[in-house]
Amino acid sequence: MLEERVRETLSKAEKQSAAHKLDHLLRVTKNALEIAKREAIDVDYFVLISACLLHDVDSPYDRKKEHVELSARKAEKIMNELKFPKEKVEEILKVIRQHSTETPVEITENEARILFDADKLEGVGAIGIARVFMSAGQRGMSIEKTIEWYKKKMEIAENMLQTETGKKMIKMIKEKMKMVLNFLDRLERALSKYHQA
Ligand SMILES: [Fe+2]
Ligand SMILES: [Fe+2]
Repeated sequence: MLEERVRETLSKAEKQSAAHKLDHLLRVTKNALEIAKREAIDVDYFVLISACLLHDVDSPYDRKKEHVELSARKAEKIMNELKFPKEKVEEILKVIRQHSTETPVEITENEARILFDADKLEGVGAIGIARVFMSAGQRGMSIEKTIEWYKKKMEIAENMLQTETGKKMIKMIKEKMKMVLNFLDRLERALSKYHQA
């Protein structure tokens, strides 16, 4: 029911960032469930899954810094329409507000730790590189600036993960990250030839 409502909402959101559409929300949900399964912590799955599906529900490509608050507000509206219990709405909003490094806040909820890692893992590896270029293209960024941004994302993913499972997963995808870094180095070298003239 919630997935359908999110799908419908996003289908009408013309300015939604190309990297934050339903496919991203569904992959983050899958990552989160995998992390939750392996972590020995208390998890409210209703809160976790709802927060994953809603965390970027209003992310216009030209208002990246505001996307957490925008998404929280739209999420609240959707949840109220779907008649979610009031206390669950509050918990889910708290988790959504703790998911992003755009608006750094202390992460206090287990579900937020899991969402944070699931979301950051989406930003690395092959999928991450495709998403970053889609998003940068929409925002009119140069290739060079995109490479810089991507490297920063990788650093965040490596240094800020919250769960033991997330940290283990990033080690496993380090190999994939090497492939991505090699590609970015090649790309930078190819571009630098054009700057030498
Ligand atoms: Fe986000
Ligand atoms: Fe996200």
